[in-house]
Amino acid sequence: MAQQQANYEKQQTERAHLQKYIDRFKAKATKAKQAQSRIKALARMENIAPAHIDSPFHFSFSQPPKASNPLLYLEDANLGYSDKEILTQVNMSIVPGSRIGLLGPNGAGKSTLIKTLVGDLALQGGIRHAGDNLQIGYFAQHQLEALDLTASPMTHIQRLSPATSEQAIRNFLGGFNFHDNATETPKNFSGGEKARLELAIVVWEKPNLLIMDEPTNHLDLEMCHALTMALQSFSGAMILVSHDRHLLRNSVDEFLSVAEEKVQNFDGDLDEYQHWVLKSKRENNTSRIDQNTNTPKVDRKEQRRLAAELRRQLKPVTKKISKIEATIADNEKELNAIEAMLLDTNIYDDTNKKKLQEILQKQGMLQQQNKTLEEQWMQLHEELERLEKN
Ligand SMILES: Nc1ncnc2c1ncn2[C@@H]1O[C@H](COP(=O)(O)OP(=O)(O)O)[C@@H](O)[C@H]1O
Ligand SMILES: [Mg+2]
Repeated sequence: MAQQQANYEKQQTERAHLQKYIDRFKAKATKAKQAQSRIKALARMENIAPAHIDSPFHFSFSQPPKASNPLLYLEDANLGYSDKEILTQVNMSIVPGSRIGLLGPNGAGKSTLIKTLVGDLALQGGIRHAGDNLQIGYFAQHQLEALDLTASPMTHIQRLSPATSEQAIRNFLGGFNFHDNATETPKNFSGGEKARLELAIVVWEKPNLLIMDEPTNHLDLEMCHALTMALQSFSGAMILVSHDRHLLRNSVDEFLSVAEEKVQNFDGDLDEYQHWVLKSKRENNTSRIDQNTNTPKVDRKEQRRLAAELRRQLKPVTKKISKIEATIADNEKELNAIEAMLLDTNIYDDTNKKKLQEILQKQGMLQQQNKTLEEQWMQLHEELERLEKN
């Protein structure tokens, strides 16, 4: 009973936390589509939260320190490396409360933009201005390789705050499910454990701007959920790159697209983005073939043969892509149905415990499957591009 009571209290705290956030968010929500869909997502989360009450992870960001306005901006900036420019004439401003998701194909320059914003990568031209009161918490895409493997989680935090008591750090690390291993060196840690440690460090730094590049790649589902919850109630600004659509959908209010050397506002939600990508890919394909057939120098017949040959080569790939899209759509339908079931409060009754577990398991499986399928979908599109260029 004591255990039950403790769980109940934990759940009430989590709910209260979320509710406070929802109220605050609703109060300033605009008519923007993302804001609306985020309110819905929040309502959903509120119902799903109790089901994760057994999760070993419980952490949240503390109230961010005073923030400059703007926190950080780029003006007419050219970004890239000494031998090549990746993004040109970038103008963007991050103000307190900005919650930005970066969208774009692999290799488009999302990590390049992130590294520049953080200040790890120098500009090729233009201005980067950081406010006086800017505290960045940065989770890099390839951060795990940079972790000091000789220092335990405890040591990592102690280095940041030598004056904090050991017990306070232990309690904090407990929220990331580091208990006995809090004092072990991370040599034998799994990728997931290392990612958790990195995350703990970022949270400890009390950022007012959170910059995360693919944070969930090594995290299991429970941890992704815990991160989603923590980001929901984070009140600082953030920029997020992620393949995890659930995380994106639930954490950001606006999207920027990074593609073809440009950074632009994307006025739509994630589904619209996927449609937009597909549509522009299709249009590109046809215009490229048209251009070919209009070239006067080349023999028409030869041209037709080449076009047919290209179509023949592309067919197995486009077929696979359609199949994946159909499966993703089916899975999403099923996921929507599951979400509807989770909105019914009866499901959280003790008598339905087994059913709830089954549903959540199914949900986890479908989400994981879609994540994998989306990655395959990306790779197939890259293959398609390669074939078209040849
Ligand atoms: N250190 C580097 N030096 C030169 N080119 C790089 C470097 N890092 C990345 N690139 C190139 O910059 C482009 C954008 O990469 P990146 O920003 O990692 O894309 P994304 O994160 O969107 O997948 C790619 O063509 C990549 O090969
Ligand atoms: Mg990247």
